[in-house]
Amino acid sequence: MRWLWGWLVDWSSLPELGVGIGYREPFLGELFDCRSSIEFLEVTADHYFEPIDSKEAELDLLATNFPLIPHGLAMSLGSAEGLDESYLKLYSELVDRLKPAWCSEHISFSRAGGIDIGHLTPVPKTDAALGVLHDNIARLQDSIQVPLILENITDTIRYPTESYDGADFLCKLCDQNQVGLLLDVTNLFINSQNQRFDPVEFLRRLPADRIIQLHFVGGFIENGVWVDSHSGATQEPIWELIEQVLGLAAVKGMILERDENLPALRELTPELEHARAIVQRVQRAS
Ligand SMILES: [Fe+2]
Repeated sequence: MRWLWGWLVDWSSLPELGVGIGYREPFLGELFDCRSSIEFLEVTADHYFEPIDSKEAELDLLATNFPLIPHGLAMSLGSAEGLDESYLKLYSELVDRLKPAWCSEHISFSRAGGIDIGHLTPVPKTDAALGVLHDNIARLQDSIQVPLILENITDTIRYPTESYDGADFLCKLCDQNQVGLLLDVTNLFINSQNQRFDPVEFLRRLPADRIIQLHFVGGFIENGVWVDSHSGATQEPIWELIEQVLGLAAVKGMILERDENLPALRELTPELEHARAIVQRVQRAS
């Protein structure tokens, strides 16, 4: 099916899912009380591979009541050794079961030499890495029947041999593959602060028609360095950057991606409403 998606994806025709949240198990008890604030859920694909009965029932409940987008963690698209076929099978089976509007993974590697390093690691911004990504994306797209979008991560490692900056690398990736972007606005903001570049100038260089979904959440500063912690409320400069993105791209969905220091779900819904208000403000202005 790769060639089909490769040539026929009409990114503009994907459904508008609105504003949602990354589902975490502790949210379940309040999920339906907060239903009016949550238009869709992103679920961590890996949590539902060969699920025990309770996770199976949970997935059924979520899928019955919300549009779901599966977000993978460990495909390791940047691994030169290729994909893990057993992981690929589990991910593909989940995507086939959910039949989502799209699915997502990261532009990173987490496995090398057969060893799982347990962390999303940036790939070098080189043509060699683009070649590896191309081969692995093609293998993944051969196995799924829905559009694939890929997420920018924070540059926790910089390589001395890099040929491209972050924006050029994403442009090349989109030129060479029929993939959309899951633009993590917080990761872009953090990289811009730590590497001292203008995030808006970065944004303007991206192919706007490929920016399909956003992630946002708050980070924090430690010893002068911004940390991608997923642990706090979204900060004002990140909201401002979200507004810039929405002015440039017809984004189909936004996900609050809180993982650490989890409060009650009802304490997070004001952030969803804030995001929705920005969407409406941008739409009114356009
Ligand atoms: Fe993210």
